[in-house]
Amino acid sequence: MPKPAERLDNLPVYFFAVLTQRIQTLQAQGVDVISLDIGSPDLPPPEPVVEALAQSARKPNTHGYSGYRGIPEFRKAVSRYYERRFGVQLNSDTEVLALIGSKEGIVNLSLAYLGAGDSALIPDISYPSYSMGARIAGGDVHWLPLSAKTGFLPDITSVPDSVADHAKLLWVNYPNNPTGATATLDLYQEMVDWSNKHDILLVSDNPYVDVTYDGFKASSVLQANNAKNCTIEFMSFSKTFNMGGWRLGAAVGNAIAIKTLLQVKSNMDSGHFRPIYDAGIVALDTTPQSWIDERNMVYQRRRDRIIETLPHIGLKAAIPKGSLYVWAEVEDGDGDNYVKQALDQAHIGFAPGSAYGTGGKKYIRISLGISDERLEAALERLKTWYPNRKPLQD
Ligand SMILES: Cc1ncc(COP(=O)(O)O)c(C=O)c1O
Repeated sequence: MPKPAERLDNLPVYFFAVLTQRIQTLQAQGVDVISLDIGSPDLPPPEPVVEALAQSARKPNTHGYSGYRGIPEFRKAVSRYYERRFGVQLNSDTEVLALIGSKEGIVNLSLAYLGAGDSALIPDISYPSYSMGARIAGGDVHWLPLSAKTGFLPDITSVPDSVADHAKLLWVNYPNNPTGATATLDLYQEMVDWSNKHDILLVSDNPYVDVTYDGFKASSVLQANNAKNCTIEFMSFSKTFNMGGWRLGAAVGNAIAIKTLLQVKSNMDSGHFRPIYDAGIVALDTTPQSWIDERNMVYQRRRDRIIETLPHIGLKAAIPKGSLYVWAEVEDGDGDNYVKQALDQAHIGFAPGSAYGTGGKKYIRISLGISDERLEAALERLKTWYPNRKPLQD
């Protein structure tokens, strides 16, 4: 076989693909592994959404290619959602683009803007696709340090002008995966003003905007003044409507950025399956806020059960107001070791903080996307395991 392209030399296999493989190997040996590692909602989407998919799929004329930008009715439904939810007006022809999940948009945007000598500003604890997208594109990453002291929010004003003036993208994500950090509109305004000043495209990856707790309501960065001059935001159906496997999302915001992303995308894919767009329209237009609130209450209860248990299992964490995760600091400061021990000895899967960047080494990420029953079983198992844990064998 020929040698793979050089760009793969620096590109590890996606962390969760490796972890899932290890868990599946244990399961094939008959081990009952409980996975608290993957951020995939365990509950179903609203019933009318599933019904809309089925009805649309039964029609004879919904099976062809459906266009590169997503059907106009879908883009209009995204605009209506932004108006209703955030008071933000979007031109559905020029400021909205359908995506096959936001991960696709994240990597394609990196391809659209980064090449040799270009750089992206990325928090040093973040969703891995931001930096992997930069690597695939051949661009550089300038890491923005984060710490618990500053609530895991970057201080962009500390980025030297010499770095800022050469950067093209600034990635942000609130409520955050994995830290659970949330942003105020004031912080978004500061980021917009700074990005406008330095001619940077501010990219807000916002899949958890509707997954929030304790009455907290998250914002869109597009609510900040002059945001559209310099901002693109990714919205996703995966967490808002429990539709992770459906692969549906949208990019919204600056029309030039949208057009540039389309230039890559239209050469890469041919749009989504029409019934998925039709079901997406129903999700956006008909899902009552009460459905989202009730679903979030389920996650909130799970969050609280985890937080109560942490002192018994060598972990501590701030209480997250949003996202699907508890970001817990490990007592002895070695997140990787904790994850390995818990998987080998208690058969519980966690995500190590190091998978999100060097800033995450002391942490592990615990997902709330697991049934109450399995979560209780996992917490009981961990409480028995932790005081009796053994050092790892080499
Ligand atoms: C921060 C963040 N961005 C993007 C994604 C990808 O979402 P999608 O399912 O829309 O591709 C995820 C998925 O977990 C995520 O946590």
